Amino acid sequence: MKPIEIQPNIFWIGVNDRSTKLFEGLWPIEKEGISYNSYLIKDEKTVLIDLCKGLFQDEYLNELKTLIDPSEIDYLVVNHMEPDHSGAMQAFRKIAPQAKILATIKAVQMMEDFFGISENIQPVNDREKISLGEKELLFITAPMVHWPETMMTYETSSQVLFSCDAFGGYGTLSDGIFDDDYKDISYFEQESLRYFSNIVAAFSKPVLNAGAKLADIPIKMIAPSHGLVWRGAPERILNLYVKWSEFSKDTAERGVTLLYGSMYGNTLKMLPAITAGLEKAHVPTKGHDITTTHISYILPDLWVNQGVMIGAPTYEGSIFPTMAAVLEMVNFKRIFNRHAAYFGSYGWGGGATRYLKTQFEKSKWEFVESLVFPGQPSQEDLANASAFSERFGNLIKSL
Ligand code: FEO
Repeated sequence: MKPIEIQPNIFWIGVNDRSTKLFEGLWPIEKEGISYNSYLIKDEKTVLIDLCKGLFQDEYLNELKTLIDPSEIDYLVVNHMEPDHSGAMQAFRKIAPQAKILATIKAVQMMEDFFGISENIQPVNDREKISLGEKELLFITAPMVHWPETMMTYETSSQVLFSCDAFGGYGTLSDGIFDDDYKDISYFEQESLRYFSNIVAAFSKPVLNAGAKLADIPIKMIAPSHGLVWRGAPERILNLYVKWSEFSKDTAERGVTLLYGSMYGNTLKMLPAITAGLEKAHVPTKGHDITTTHISYILPDLWVNQGVMIGAPTYEGSIFPTMAAVLEMVNFKRIFNRHAAYFGSYGWGGGATRYLKTQFEKSKWEFVESLVFPGQPSQEDLANASAFSERFGNLIKSL
């Protein structure tokens, strides 16, 4: 895409990545894509803020050259060293060796480790300012949002916050780069939540710390390194990120994530009755067949819903391994303090319930109740299932 002027003499230079199948080698983005947003500020001193993934460096540098001769750039601000933003660093260094790199002290060692770059770097401190002429940069460190070296950069005259990973989302920017280019931004909000739950959620406390540091800073525009530039309603994405981060310590939304997977369909025979009970309780429910849905799309619901209804059989004295993998990711992503119930089939001795008790101790989940049965569910099991899930739905609503 061609560069776009987002404020006088401040330009978005972005790349839409439509070819990466798995972001970080983990998270599917084949349908949605992602953008790598970089920004150029022209003043007496010229500054480039962040770069892009190495795979796209030729496209990116060609777009940059339509705005400026890279040999005229005074500074490169490196907000974050993850290679989706810094991957083009060596190529940029070759054509702009004069550009002094501004980054946190923690980024300096990483620059050497990742790219062998150790010259012409100026470490910056939290709240340090650098004048560009009429414009001025303020650096705000944001450790663990998403790596320990991460910072945000704020331009004081235009009140634009270059927030890097914070306030970002999946999704390419085909029909406009601004939130107010779109009548309905629910798609981008959902992809921001998926990105948050996949990438950032484990660092919710640092996100809240960063949010607190921004409290006394007037923000006219949020320009993250992924996804929409928030011009119309920057407070919207900021508030969403704060709300989602608070779910790490407070009760989440009064809804249920229904996870199910089955080997031969016996556990699934319970599903209509389980769903009927949750409907009777009028509790918002999002269901996922874990055998066909990538964890990337399940994590957003686990993050925002307080209740988790788990349906899966016993497998070799434990739980169905696909479900175990989902619950293992729960611990990776630090989804703590949820309420869970379990239903499932077993062949002989059971074991899923025992596994869940151990797992829930790690994730600090409250194990509300379980409904297990040998083989296929009996008429009595089916009759009990609806009341079982209705009780659980009512409990979640009452929290
Ligand atoms: Fe978009 Fe943590 O990198």
